[in-house]
Amino acid sequence: MTAVKRAVAVLISGRGTNLRALIESTLAADHPARIALVLSNKAEAEGLEIAKAAGIETALIESRGKERAVFDAEMDALLKAKGIEYICLAGFMRLLTTEFVQAWYGRMINIHPSLLPAFRGTDVHARVIESGARFSGCTVHFVSPEVDAGPIILQAAVPVPQDATAESLAAAVLEQEHALYPQALRLLTEGRLVIEGQRVRVKN
Ligand code: GAR
Repeated sequence: MTAVKRAVAVLISGRGTNLRALIESTLAADHPARIALVLSNKAEAEGLEIAKAAGIETALIESRGKERAVFDAEMDALLKAKGIEYICLAGFMRLLTTEFVQAWYGRMINIHPSLLPAFRGTDVHARVIESGARFSGCTVHFVSPEVDAGPIILQAAVPVPQDATAESLAAAVLEQEHALYPQALRLLTEGRLVIEGQRVRVKN
């Protein structure tokens, strides 16, 4: 008998390369999850095409000009209607309300292109280079009401070469993101992550 796979929604706003990595990883027969829905807040998000090409249901809920609470309530209703159990934010560039975040706490994860808690927010790579830091990287974390501040699940580090540009560093970090995010989703949907305050314990 094949086990029922956990239904995951991926929320995107753009390119969707992390989405692609998540889709590919969940195709493994023994994977506990499947990407059941890709939801974008922008019509022009290229990631929507990646989802369609993979035969995954897509949804567009435009956020522009919409009150945050209204937008989040629309998303929440759709996610529930589709039976979604877990959410991956993958380049989803829209702040979420505390209410939405609390409703999904422990079941919603994000990838951020820095070694949190350093360099939260946007324009990360230019700020890393400017700071003189010798290492950067990426972080997968649970989403909490404070932006980029939730319990850390996994991290990967990359060196910052002397001649790094924001573009070259972004590319080096992105390569790590594509390996890290699938690992974190697998652990999450295997039920192996235990949040203990700000720390995450990985069960064997
Ligand atoms: C990724 O680098 C991701 O870490 C970053 O946006 C990019 C999306 O790329 N996310 C954030 O900055 C979230 N604050 P992708 O659309 O190709 O996956």
